[in-house]
Amino acid sequence: MTEFERIKKQDNEYFMNVYAPYDIAFVSGDGCTLTDSEGKKYVDFLGGIAVNALGYNHPVFVNAITEQSKKLSLISNYFYSEQRGLLAKELIKGTKLKKAFFGNSGAEANECAIKLARKYFFVKGQQKFKIITAADSFHGRTLATVTATGQPKYNLAYVPLPAGLGDYVPYNDIKALETALNDPTVAAFMIEVIQGEGGICPATQEYVTAARKITHKNGQLLIIDEIQTGGGRTGKFWAFEHFGVDPDIITAAKAIGGGFPISACLATDEVAAAFVPGDHGTTFGAAPLACGVSLAVVKEIRYGGLLENAEKRGAYLAEKLTSIGDPRIKTVRGKGLLLGAEIDASLPAKQIVLKMFEEGYVLNVCGHNVLRFVPPLIISEKQIDSMTAALKRVLKTL
Ligand SMILES: Cc1ncc(COP(=O)(O)O)c(C=O)c1O
Repeated sequence: MTEFERIKKQDNEYFMNVYAPYDIAFVSGDGCTLTDSEGKKYVDFLGGIAVNALGYNHPVFVNAITEQSKKLSLISNYFYSEQRGLLAKELIKGTKLKKAFFGNSGAEANECAIKLARKYFFVKGQQKFKIITAADSFHGRTLATVTATGQPKYNLAYVPLPAGLGDYVPYNDIKALETALNDPTVAAFMIEVIQGEGGICPATQEYVTAARKITHKNGQLLIIDEIQTGGGRTGKFWAFEHFGVDPDIITAAKAIGGGFPISACLATDEVAAAFVPGDHGTTFGAAPLACGVSLAVVKEIRYGGLLENAEKRGAYLAEKLTSIGDPRIKTVRGKGLLLGAEIDASLPAKQIVLKMFEEGYVLNVCGHNVLRFVPPLIISEKQIDSMTAALKRVLKTL
């Protein structure tokens, strides 16, 4: 039995069957390179699904975990902590958002956003509770967030679903949005400005502008889910900054922890004031260790040149993918290092992914037959060159 077979057998025996993993077990990583149980090396264009912004074994990440865990890891939210406030201050920088809540996963951040939006109108004595979301969106796996997720395959089995969620509008359709929001019980519209799991689909400028305008006009909140887009991936720290709108609430996770579980719900002063002690909480959220590590990661992204890298290398990667010139690559879309290549339905993208593993590159499929490229923000031109050359080779064999 190989080392891989042993790990796979153990996993299949004891771990719930919810993921259908690929036949690889990674055991270590350094920079953008992963090593599997058999010693094979891969260049990583998945980054733990847009999480590992600094790649693997990055000294900033390793030092932050080491130093903060020696000092203080978790003491509960009954007490003040330096790291909690510092991280909140850093995350809201340059935005109109003023307060943060920290959780542990993206879904939790969205749960917080949904609860906060409802509480905001509850305090005002208004019967506004519905959260409208987009078709093909992805907002998480808790009951509320999986209901908000506009892909029924994820929530069909979990009926009855929570009320006031699950009304989906077609993405980028302003008329449909206007109609859906023309309802006095709607509290908020929640949107990804680039749909991640849905297939790296960017919203148009007109759509995002209209979403802000309509929600303002109706006295509703605009929630932007930055869980996949945030933390520098698109070349700006938050993807909403590309659109020149000011959301009332945003949610973040993935890249802001660089691999350490943490999520954030950020809100304006006015909206955040709806929460009072006892309204919301979590044991693990805002722990000094999580916040200390996140602060170091966020600073490295912001001040260590990674925003520029995401923008430049992203444009380079998009250009290289396009220049492959295979007609089965229908479109290359996204922003910065959040890119998708839509493959013609005649060729299952999963076949490409499996062949790319053989070549020593990690990527995956999302949406409707879309290859997703979300590498660490430290990816180099050389690594992009070798990956796109491999992709070209692979496509020739299929
Ligand atoms: C846009 C978006 N929202 C929410 C989530 C859920 O995050 P988590 O898996 O950390 O709960 C994801 C995860 O992929 C996501 O991409």
